Amino acid sequence: MRSLIKTIIYDIDPNDIDMNKIKICSKVLANGGTVAFPTETVYGVGANALNPQAVKKIYTAKGRPADNPLIVHISDVKSLYVLVDEVSRATEDLISAFWPGPLTLILKKSKAVPDTITAGLDTVAIRLPMHPIAINLIKEAGIPIAAPSANISGKPSPTRGKHVVDDLFGRVDIIINGGNCEVGLESTVLDMSTNQPTILRPGAVTKKMIEEILGKEINFHETNLGNFEGEIPKAPGMKYIHYAPKAEVIIYRGEIDEVTRRMELDLERYVNLGKRVGIICTESRKRAEGDGSCLAFRGNLFSQKTKQEPHPLASVKSMGVRGEYKTIAANIFRILREFDDEEVDIILTEAVEETELGQAIMNRLIKAAGYNIVEVSNVN
Ligand code: TXA
Ligand code: MG
Repeated sequence: MRSLIKTIIYDIDPNDIDMNKIKICSKVLANGGTVAFPTETVYGVGANALNPQAVKKIYTAKGRPADNPLIVHISDVKSLYVLVDEVSRATEDLISAFWPGPLTLILKKSKAVPDTITAGLDTVAIRLPMHPIAINLIKEAGIPIAAPSANISGKPSPTRGKHVVDDLFGRVDIIINGGNCEVGLESTVLDMSTNQPTILRPGAVTKKMIEEILGKEINFHETNLGNFEGEIPKAPGMKYIHYAPKAEVIIYRGEIDEVTRRMELDLERYVNLGKRVGIICTESRKRAEGDGSCLAFRGNLFSQKTKQEPHPLASVKSMGVRGEYKTIAANIFRILREFDDEEVDIILTEAVEETELGQAIMNRLIKAAGYNIVEVSNVN
């Protein structure tokens, strides 16, 4: 069995940062150790990006395949110039518009970047995060920090300190508990290493926002689990089943009343089979009164039946108000993890409209569901 590391947990308030704790953490990083820390997107697990032995510890802690490269995090723009040889005008424009923030840029790497980070690619992923704990930690360490999301490979990314402790306690040297991540989804990954900029992973910096800065249309590389045979995936991480909770996930897409009706029918079917079911729906679909243990759809038999008494096998969680993508993004990984804790067998979720940030949310939901989508047609 793999031996456990002694993990220290530090609570650090992002609004009143204890620099003594940050200094201890940064020393651990500089000495080749591993530290999990909050960023504005999700928690990351960091190590010295220029030290291959340290970087290997990240792969081991996460159980991550070695052919999936890591993002290098920096605390100021000038650090970028050590990691790459050339920065185009377009890249500079994106940097002034979106850094610090949830945008990762793929650029041609310099010789300073070890192959362990890039899985042998000639490009490197770089991000300047916005979170004050992340910035202070990297600055104090004085080195670029390689940091993938701080989850066990294949599980939903962590958006709270508790999630990191659940996954990585005993696997890393320090876990910084610095509260909830504001964005809740991993950064947008944008490939700027070729002539035509391409989004490899959608995130809070949307296609439209990038196009406004670049003044031209960019590509969106729609990664598909089935499409990778014989082809080198553009974002290597996208070929693995990602963000998946333990339960099976089914997405229902279509006109909202029909979707709710279909979800309720399936809910009834599954609980009758003795399955424990988690429902993710928008706020208006959750019953306003009571404890929210059933859906709100009017006239449905199941809702009627459970009006007085919530069904013991059904648990309903609101992703937020429909169309309020920021809230939904911040909630979605947390909800998937909560359902894991509740040990549900199946999660049924409403789809989200794929516009703006909704595109990133659906991208993660579709991966969690392993492309299991029920297209609900309008019967009227
Ligand atoms: O928000 C985030 O990006 C978080 C926080 C901690 O910064 N980090 C994160 O890292 O999500 P990770 O390792 O979970 O996801 C990085 C993604 C993977 O899909 C990886 O394959 C891709 O970026 N990637 C890294 N380097 C690449 C490269 N040189 N070319 C293409 N894709 C790359
Ligand atoms: Mg990840």
